[in-house]
Parts: sequence; structure tokens; C-alpha cells
Amino acid sequence: MNDYLQADEIPVIAIDGPSASGKGTIAQLVAKKLGFHYLDSGALYRLVALKTAQSQADIEDKDLLADIARNLNVLFKNEVIYLDGKNVTDDIRTEECGILASQLAAYPQIREALTERQRKFRQPPGLVTDGRDMGSVIFPNAILKIFLTASAEIRAQRRYKQLKEKGINANIIDLLQDIQKRDERDSNRSIAPLQQSTDAKLLDTTSLTISQAQDAVLCWYNEIFAKIRV
Ligand code: DC
Repeated sequence: MNDYLQADEIPVIAIDGPSASGKGTIAQLVAKKLGFHYLDSGALYRLVALKTAQSQADIEDKDLLADIARNLNVLFKNEVIYLDGKNVTDDIRTEECGILASQLAAYPQIREALTERQRKFRQPPGLVTDGRDMGSVIFPNAILKIFLTASAEIRAQRRYKQLKEKGINANIIDLLQDIQKRDERDSNRSIAPLQQSTDAKLLDTTSLTISQAQDAVLCWYNEIFAKIRV
């Protein structure tokens, strides 16, 4: 791939799926393997939630929230995320922040305010991105679209293990309920709902290791890439 591609020729791998499905881990590994850029779109919604909470904004004031989203002062540097110059990598990962992000993500004004910011991540030699509407709305001409999922029970167990490893106390029943509620809200909102688009490949990781899931994505990408080159 050269550096002179038109923006819409730059390959995008769009990985969408429900929360705690492991799509972030897989997307990051694939991006590293291919030397592509990486966009965690959920982090943007979480950042809007964090900034909203910090500024004690009224969560019914959709125009104000859209302003917050449009003017976010964010820097993604290696694996660290800065908001207004402060490292907030861990702050945005709390359950509270995820829940507020999911509520705010249902507002069309906020989604609209984040659209261009997300598209700017499409830089040579390519982009791997994960979220809920990466293949359906933000990058509809992505070269490869994947719907990555796992059972809610397995996702709750994985999240529980992750939190434990970080020394954070968690209750698996509460986590499962949070995941189910979030699935319900993300899937049933009227704008850009979480759903497998007809042109997305299904990757169910319930009984796959991280490495097997990564290989499946790379294998699909290589198949497509091989076809383009002939
Ligand atoms: O992927 P995540 O759990 O970090 O995302 C947090 C919330 O943000 C999620 O519940 C729904 C929302 N989101 C979205 O609506 N669209 C995206 N592309 C990414 C995330």
C-alpha cells in the first residue's frame, strides 16, 4: 500500500459487536500485526461521558452535550488516552462511565458530532476500528466488516477476570446484568443500533482463544487482499 491513496481507498477493517466481546483486544492485535492505525470508537463515547460528568452538564441538554462531543480535547498516544492533557485511560473504563456512554450514545446529536472525528482516523496504510456502527455508518465501504460477539455469560466472566486482575472488586451477577442491559439499550436505540449488517462476517468467540479470533480476522483480510491484487 502506498501513501498516496484517496481517503476512501485506504483499507478499513471494521469490527463491531456488543460490550465486553473482546473486539478491542482483537482489533488492537490485528492493527499491530498489519501495521495499521487503530481507533477505539467506544473510547470517544466514554470520553464524552467522562467530560459530561466532570462538567456536571445536564444530560437532557442534547445541544450542550453535542458541543462537548465536538470540542473534546483528546489525544490518543500509544495506548494512553489524554483528555484536556490528563491521562484518563483508566477513568473511562469504569462501569459507570460505560453506562453513561451507552445512554449518551443514543442521542443523534452526539453521534453526529463524533462522525468526522472518527473518519479522520482513516490514514495510510490502513485502519482497524471497533465499535457498534463502524461498518454500518462510519465506514460503510470498509474492506472487511466483522460482527464479533460471544455469549453474555462468557463476556461477564471475561470482564470479571479483567477487573480482578486489576485488583478491582466485582460481582459477576451484577456484571452480567449490566452487560444484558447495555446490549438491550445499544441494540434497540433508533439511531445506529448495534446489529450485524448483512455484509458483515460473524465471529463468535464464545469458544475461541484470543489468538484464534485474531487469526480468523487476519485470514479473512488476507483472502480479500489476495483477491484485490489479482
Ligand atoms: O465499546 P465500549 O463498551 O467501550 O462502548 C461504550 C458505549 O459507547 C457503548 O455502550 C455504546 C457506545 N458506542 C456506540 O454507541 N457506538 C460506537 N461506535 C462505540 C460505542
